[in-house]
Amino acid sequence: MTGSPPHPRGLAARLLTAQLLVIAVGAVTLVLAALAAGPPLFRAHVTMALGSVSPALQRHLDDAFATAAGIALVISTAAAVAAAAAVSLLITRRLSRPLRDLGDAAATVATGDYTARMAPAGLGPELDAVAGAFNTMAAALQATETTRRRLLADAAHELRTPLATIDAYLEGLADGIRAPGQETWDILAAQTARLRRLADDIALVSRAEEGQLPLHKVTVAPAGLVTAAAEAARPGYDARGVRLAAQAGAGLPDISADPDRIGQVLTGLLANALRHTPPGGCVTLAAQPAGPGVRITVTDTGDGIAAEHLPHLFERFYRADAARAAARGGSGIGLTIARALVAAHGGTITAASAGPGTGARFTIVLPAS
Ligand SMILES: Nc1ncnc2c1ncn2[C@@H]1O[C@H](COP(=O)(O)OP(=O)(O)OP(=O)(O)O)[C@@H](O)[C@H]1O
Ligand SMILES: [Mg+2]
Repeated sequence: MTGSPPHPRGLAARLLTAQLLVIAVGAVTLVLAALAAGPPLFRAHVTMALGSVSPALQRHLDDAFATAAGIALVISTAAAVAAAAAVSLLITRRLSRPLRDLGDAAATVATGDYTARMAPAGLGPELDAVAGAFNTMAAALQATETTRRRLLADAAHELRTPLATIDAYLEGLADGIRAPGQETWDILAAQTARLRRLADDIALVSRAEEGQLPLHKVTVAPAGLVTAAAEAARPGYDARGVRLAAQAGAGLPDISADPDRIGQVLTGLLANALRHTPPGGCVTLAAQPAGPGVRITVTDTGDGIAAEHLPHLFERFYRADAARAAARGGSGIGLTIARALVAAHGGTITAASAGPGTGARFTIVLPAS
């Protein structure tokens, strides 16, 4: 473990100096006060008790007073200095251990090991608060690092499939095994399109999650958004033989939203629903009032989602059935983008399903404008 060497004497010396200063001021004040007020008072008391005394006796009494005061001063100063030294040492000992631990833990984190944590010092709320804040910071760094690693690994994995296809086709063309022709160009074009979409999606989700995506919000009627998304998706549904119903209930409040971005979210949900609903099935896009806002649902009668997948659907690159989804061209980033866009509007998006074969429902709640 690295880190600067501890300097317990630094803290102890400073504490001791501060206390010695206080003791010195106290001692000097005491001497001055005793010199100013002591002898006259003492003499007044002696005169009251004994009447007038001879000058020799007076000098003797003055000397006795000065000696007694001096001895008291020396003894009390020595005791105070000893107590100050002991207190300084004790406080330094108690403080130096948690401070050294904090330094060590910070040095560990600086090397990129975010598992370092501090035990509560048990020396009162201030040091415990420092330990708590440090642990929160280390945990946040650790979470970010985990996400970053997984994102890199997932992105690399997603890039590999289209790249492998392109590689194989180029190799076949170069070796003369494969003749150049429309089918080959189509496949190469589809794979580069997939790579481009992946790059765009990753950039989009990163910007959205960092809150860097500009939203051009206007006041819109949710019914218009629902109808527009349904009409855009209809040709795909008709081609596959899946029924698409759009319902916008009465009394919907206007919302403040970027119509393009909310449209993008609905389009993604409708594409998912179509992908997971067999011909003859039905998908319903509906908008209803929900408290002061609007609830938009996309309900399908398709594959459904097993309970263990539900909590992960909105994670980057997560696919419930990775092999099948990849074969159909999805990279598992659509719902991540949807969640980021809905969150940027101050809304929420959730998924529900009673299990495989029972269909699924995605619910968006957006606040009223
Ligand atoms: N309506 C649905 N029915 C069943 N499963 C769904 C439904 N919508 C999404 N899923 C599951 O959630 C996963 C994640 O969806 P998401 O939209 O994020 O990715 P994708 O559709 O696979 O790829 P992309 O949207 O990036 O093209 C899907 O792979 C699928 O397993
Ligand atoms: Mg999708």
